[in-house]
Amino acid sequence: MSILITGGRIITATDDYVGDIFIEDDRITAIGTTLPMKADRTIDARGKFVFPGGIDVHTHLDMPFGGSTSADDFETGTIAAAFGGTTSIVDFAIQYRGQTLHHAWETWMKKADGKAAIDYGFHMIMTELNDQVELEMDALVRQGVTSFKLFMAYPGVFMLDDASIFKAMLRTGQNGGTICMHAENGGVIDVLVQRALAEGKTAPKYHALTRPARAEGEATHRAIALAEMADVPVYIVHLSAAEALEMVTEARDRGLPAFAETCPQYLFLSYDNYEEPGFEGAKYVMSPPLRQKETQNRLWRGLAGNDLQAIATDHCPFCMKEKHLGDGDFSKIPNGAPGIETRMSLVYDGGVRTGKISLNRFVELTSTSPAKIFGLFPRKGTVAPGSDADLVIFDPEKTMTLRAKTLHMNVDYNPYEGREVTGVTETVLSRGRVIIDGGTFTGRPGAGSFIKRQPRLL
Ligand code: URP
Ligand code: ZN
Ligand code: ZN
Repeated sequence: MSILITGGRIITATDDYVGDIFIEDDRITAIGTTLPMKADRTIDARGKFVFPGGIDVHTHLDMPFGGSTSADDFETGTIAAAFGGTTSIVDFAIQYRGQTLHHAWETWMKKADGKAAIDYGFHMIMTELNDQVELEMDALVRQGVTSFKLFMAYPGVFMLDDASIFKAMLRTGQNGGTICMHAENGGVIDVLVQRALAEGKTAPKYHALTRPARAEGEATHRAIALAEMADVPVYIVHLSAAEALEMVTEARDRGLPAFAETCPQYLFLSYDNYEEPGFEGAKYVMSPPLRQKETQNRLWRGLAGNDLQAIATDHCPFCMKEKHLGDGDFSKIPNGAPGIETRMSLVYDGGVRTGKISLNRFVELTSTSPAKIFGLFPRKGTVAPGSDADLVIFDPEKTMTLRAKTLHMNVDYNPYEGREVTGVTETVLSRGRVIIDGGTFTGRPGAGSFIKRQPRLL
């Protein structure tokens, strides 16, 4: 099967030109100003942007958490991702205490198998460390699971002590992997949560008021310090606070391999959302929480200046019925919100159209840079001969109103309900197959493949 995409404005992290793209089977085989080839199908992309497919390196599909399971599985979640212009995800497999990493990997491979409509890889969440687990870490890196997420928060569930974190970092420093860190001081937060509940402060907004920005800043500083001593790259996930950003900036200025992502919710929503009436604030209960509105500009500046290297979603949706598990006790509200489908349009509309980031930087933050950090580049994350034909044809002038009812995520609310965005994904190719065709899903659950990621080159 061959496809010729003609006349689109091709945007990568570094290029911006009008041209044709020729695809044979799953790869791009030629790019030129005007290509003479005949193809099985020609797609006219004049007036449209052609981006490398979005890469979302932070999703939680079919994830048991907080007494419930995230509402999107690998079928609904990856179809929603495709509608939004994302063609690869890196999800999180979880090693629960007493389990092997291999068991966790197999469990998550089964969840995705036969369901995922786009390509997927895994990070491994580690909740327990011993000699056997350390050996398994090396094996996982060889299998293409090249990053390990550790938690400094959620005591009794996911949180690891500093010694275990340090051991995992030392091992990862040796085996070519990368550490992903949930950086919030879980001990401090736990004390604040217990105190708030004892004082009768039970509403959703106390989720945010018991998770201070400084608790994120402190943990980010500690994560970077531990990683520096262990000589391993560290990637701070879902960075939300200026206090944390300062720590990453300082580390990068010293030349350390410290990286960080933020997420659309921290760029477009704020603490004010927790003050919405009744139980509405529960929609935004996630960790770290939404911050003061002023933080948004700090994050945008971090994105523009490369103190932040990626925008991922932390997609972890729960329907309102599940959120109501926390009626009368904010600490029981499942943490997480939907976002896998809305990332590209939100960031284009609120970032590129407002002049906060350039079009090239948009591609870099949503695709190229995550591909480089997590061992997917150049197979993914760019438009080049030899790369997978994961492509998005994007209409920069079309507008869309974000509504839970018309989006495709399996969740009954949307944090951006009613927001109008300009810039909409029109057509999507995943390894040369058209999976979104003029706004209609034409792919197949199960057509996505596991991506064996490369260890870092350092
Ligand atoms: O609230 C969040 N972020 N839920 C997902 C789990 C995590 O910590 O990433
Ligand atoms: Zn986290
Ligand atoms: Zn997460």
